Amino acid sequence: MNSETIYPENALILAPLSGFTDLPYRRSARRHGCVFAFAEMVDAASLAHTPERGLALAARGEEEEFLGVQVVGADPEWLKRSCEELNAREFSLLDFNLGCPVAKVVKKGAGAALGRRIDVALDRFRLLTQYSRFPVTAKFRILTHDHPAPTVELAVGLAELGAKALTVHGRTLEDFYTGPVRADIISAVREAVAKYGIPVIANGGVRDRKTYDDLRRDSGCSRIMVAQGAMGNPWIFGELLNDAPPPTLDEWKLEVRTHVAEMVALYGENSAMRQARKIIHDYLKGRGFAAEFRNRASLLCTFAEFEKWLDAAHPAAVSASRPFRRG
Ligand SMILES: Cc1cc2nc3c(=O)[nH]c(=O)nc-3n(C[C@H](O)[C@H](O)[C@H](O)COP(=O)(O)O)c2cc1C
Repeated sequence: MNSETIYPENALILAPLSGFTDLPYRRSARRHGCVFAFAEMVDAASLAHTPERGLALAARGEEEEFLGVQVVGADPEWLKRSCEELNAREFSLLDFNLGCPVAKVVKKGAGAALGRRIDVALDRFRLLTQYSRFPVTAKFRILTHDHPAPTVELAVGLAELGAKALTVHGRTLEDFYTGPVRADIISAVREAVAKYGIPVIANGGVRDRKTYDDLRRDSGCSRIMVAQGAMGNPWIFGELLNDAPPPTLDEWKLEVRTHVAEMVALYGENSAMRQARKIIHDYLKGRGFAAEFRNRASLLCTFAEFEKWLDAAHPAAVSASRPFRRG
């Protein structure tokens, strides 16, 4: 696979979302046109120590033509061992996480903390390119708002080491997941690595057609990664790729039901329903449901209770952010 075919022009990519992008989640996105998706981030340490558990996170559906796997970690030995474990499976690419801001990751010097130590980050990235049999890519945040130079330095270093694609989240570690996205710095990265002929994917703040078009224009990147905008809203793939209209209430119900049913089939009812509550809450967000109805979702313990609750779903108001199409 050469670098150009990893992500073709105009690719719209579902971001890795820890705790979310399992197989049922990706299937839901794929039903609406998503092609490029990632399994849940795998921690190199847990992959090295309990490979079965780590690999379960990266289970691939037979129908999935493209699936990226992402690893986070800073310890060279664990990174090497996680490559060996992942090499036994089939993935479209291995992505190195240099952007995770979560305390338990940053505390260990991994994720966004590693991204800031450019020399060490490059050393670990080189190791992945040596041990992985998959094309290796990286996802990182901008390193500072002040100037593009540090972020560009990291990006060029990664490109020189043979990165097959770079995803830039236009926020810093301190910004976490909110606030303005620095498309200008993403653009500077794109220009700086142009000579390596690898795709640069812009990430941050895409939640609808306008924010998508703005990020494409301001970053100069045709390839976009979407994260929070896809949470509870797999229809965003149809909207951005095919100008598909939003779902009717019935279409929405069918999608939520199918998604949760697939979780039950994969994890068993008890475990699935525990995990599904946060997913259901995301589906409810911004759609005009009353607080009382949304709160009841936290109490759903069985699939039968869930189905009964879903049948009764009816928005109390027309939402401005994620309105239903009138069916
Ligand atoms: C719940 C959640 C989990 C995330 N998990 C990961 C992850 O495992 N790996 C990663 O690279 N980024 C992760 N991210 C960051 C997103 O991939 C993305 O970079 C970020 O949310 C910015 O994009 P957005 O503005 O479209 O949401 C996560 C974000 C959220 C909200």
